[in-house]
Order: sequence, then C-alpha cells, then structure tokens
Amino acid sequence: KGAVPMPETALMALRFEVLGRFNRARAAQLTLPHFVCQTPLFMPVGTQGTIKGLATNQLEDIGCQIILGNTYHLALRPTSELIDELGGLHKFMNWPRALLTDSGGFQMVSLLHLADITEKGVTFQSPVDGKPMLLTPEESIQIQNRIGADIIMALDDVVKTTITGPRIEEAMYRTLRWIDRCIAAHKRPHDQNLFGIVQGGLDPVLRDICVRGLVNRNLPGYAIGGLAGGEDKDSFWRVVAQCTAALPEDKPRYVMGVGYPLDVVVCSALGADMYDCVYPTRTARFGTALVPEGVLKLKNNAMAEDTRPIDSTCACMVCKNYSRAYIHSLVSKDAMGSQLLSYHNLYYMMQLSRNLHSSIVRGKFPEFVCNFLQKMFPKGD
Ligand code: GUN
Ligand code: ZN
Repeated sequence: KGAVPMPETALMALRFEVLGRFNRARAAQLTLPHFVCQTPLFMPVGTQGTIKGLATNQLEDIGCQIILGNTYHLALRPTSELIDELGGLHKFMNWPRALLTDSGGFQMVSLLHLADITEKGVTFQSPVDGKPMLLTPEESIQIQNRIGADIIMALDDVVKTTITGPRIEEAMYRTLRWIDRCIAAHKRPHDQNLFGIVQGGLDPVLRDICVRGLVNRNLPGYAIGGLAGGEDKDSFWRVVAQCTAALPEDKPRYVMGVGYPLDVVVCSALGADMYDCVYPTRTARFGTALVPEGVLKLKNNAMAEDTRPIDSTCACMVCKNYSRAYIHSLVSKDAMGSQLLSYHNLYYMMQLSRNLHSSIVRGKFPEFVCNFLQKMFPKGD
C-alpha cells in the first residue's frame, strides 16, 4: 500500500472564506492561527517589533488585524534565537493578533546598497559589525520559524521594476528555484503559512510563468512583489490585474509594499486582499495626515490657529480629542505629534479596509468607490 496523501487542509494554517464579491473584488474572512481577519485589509509595518510610537493596545483599539515584522531587523537585534527563547514574537511584543514577517531579502536590497544576490542567497554587510553575511532561503525560513508569525514570506530575488533586461528574468527564475528551498526548509506548516511571491517585473510573460510555477506548489497564499518601486500606475495596475486573474480564487492575494489609499482601493477592485506599507506611519512622522480629500499637512502655518480636528468625519481618538492647532504645535517638536498622526493615519487605513469589506459584502462597492473618488478628486481631475 502506498502512503496516504496528506489532506490538503492539514498543510495549511489558514482558512479563506469569500463572503461577498463585486466583479473581481472580494470580501473574505481570513482565519489565521492568532486572529480571524476581514479582508481587504491593510497591515501596518513594524521594524524592531513595534509600530513606531504606538503601543500594542492602541493598535488593537485602532482595529489592526495583522502587523508586519521585519525578519531582517529582528534577526539582527534582538536576534531570532532570543525571540524564540522568549516564546516567539507574539509573546515578546505582547501582540495577541496576527503577525506576518517578510523574508528579509527585500529589506537588505532596499536598505543596504551593498547587498549582492547569488544563487546561494543574499550577501550583505552586517550593519551591526560590518561582517559579510549571507541570508539563504533556508536561513530566512529558519529565522521566520523561530519568530513564529502567522504568515511567513518566501525569500525572493527582487529587482526594481524600473530596470529592464535579462536581470528581470534571472530574478524571476531564481525566485521560483528558491521557493522549493523555502518549502523544504519550512518546519511549521501546521501553524505558519508560507506565502510565495510573484516576481517578473512588468513583463506579462515572466509574470505568467512565475504565477503558474507558484500556483503549482499549492501554497496557502500568494503575494505580488516587485511593485510600488517607481513604475507608472498604469503598468502597476496592469501587473496586479494580470496576477490576480491568474491566482486561485480560494487563496489570499497580497500586494506587497502598497499603501496609498487610492492604490488599496484600485487593487481591491482588481481582486487583491492584503496590503502593507510604511507610508501611513512614515508620512505621519513628516507631519502629514491622511484624510478623505487626500492629505493634510499639519506643519503648514494655516494650521496654527485651526481648532477643527484633523478630519471631522473621523471617529478616531485623535480626532475626538485634539485640534489641528495642537498637533501643529507638536510636530517636529515632540514625539507626541507623530504618535498622534500615526494613530490617526492607521485608523484611516483600518476604516478604509472595513469600508471596502462591508461595501463588498453589502453589494455597495461601486457606490463606495464613487464616493471615495469624488472626495479625493472633487474637480474630476
Ligand atoms: N516588499 C515590497 N515589495 C516586496 C517584494 O517584492 N518582495 C519582498 N520580499 N518584500 C517586498
Ligand atoms: Zn482621526
């Protein structure tokens, strides 16, 4: 008698149930080991096991469902061994809901220009002691297994979408070769979901080969990578549309590095489910608030005597309690300024996620999108 094949669900630590659709857009319930999430959803990005300036209980109040940790940062300090010893990242940072870790290669390539990619992995100089280091697909997965996030990402070979030539093709095929090394190294498929990442630049043929290759591996979810790196919106949306159309209906689709509210709305209309970006928190630290009309620059002198909240339609703690004038007086003088703005901006992204979800479920997605666009582009431009 041959071996009994493992039931498919036993290899997955998630459930993805579509609750509603409008054309290609979908609203789903994504059940992860630590949290039951509603999609579409935006995931704030933490680096050293924290979203800068916000406590985990505030992130719960805001309605964050999944937050991102960076393998690269956490592996260097406090080290994945220590996190493992102390019971995993959830416990270490006191975050009871879902976590996702990125594989680390993208961060090294984008942060350290010294990073060099070979078939073995990504080589880089340690920013801690300057020693040459190598991150292989096996090591990335081992580190992510120690950190213990609900979703872990495959190590991919990322190139900027603005470059052209054979390097794009090489990176895509290498990403496909590395996925098998990631799958083989993954020791916790029962409680951690390994997502593959579609690469291939702006080339539809390469994207198609990559999607098919990954879908053949029957992973619990798929990400679309290599975007939001300076390409024009037209090309960006075209790649997302192509990938979402080719990815399975019953698995989550994650567009990496996307976080402008407009892009989240457009990608959701194209059938994507998950997003992450430093934008809402980074722009907060530069004194900018996200509002239905676009952005509000709190550093602007016009804010000095403005007693209104950031956004009168926002129900967040900051908009209920503080004026534009007060936040204006804090930005670039006290950390509280950027903390309040980060709080509001993440609340805005969570509210946007909730509105996308509920409008799709209630069959009101077109109305929601029209309303969203009308506020952001009132003159129709
Ligand atoms: N973050 C934003 N884009 C990417 C990507 O293409 N790959 C990975 N690993 N992380 C990302
Ligand atoms: Zn607010």
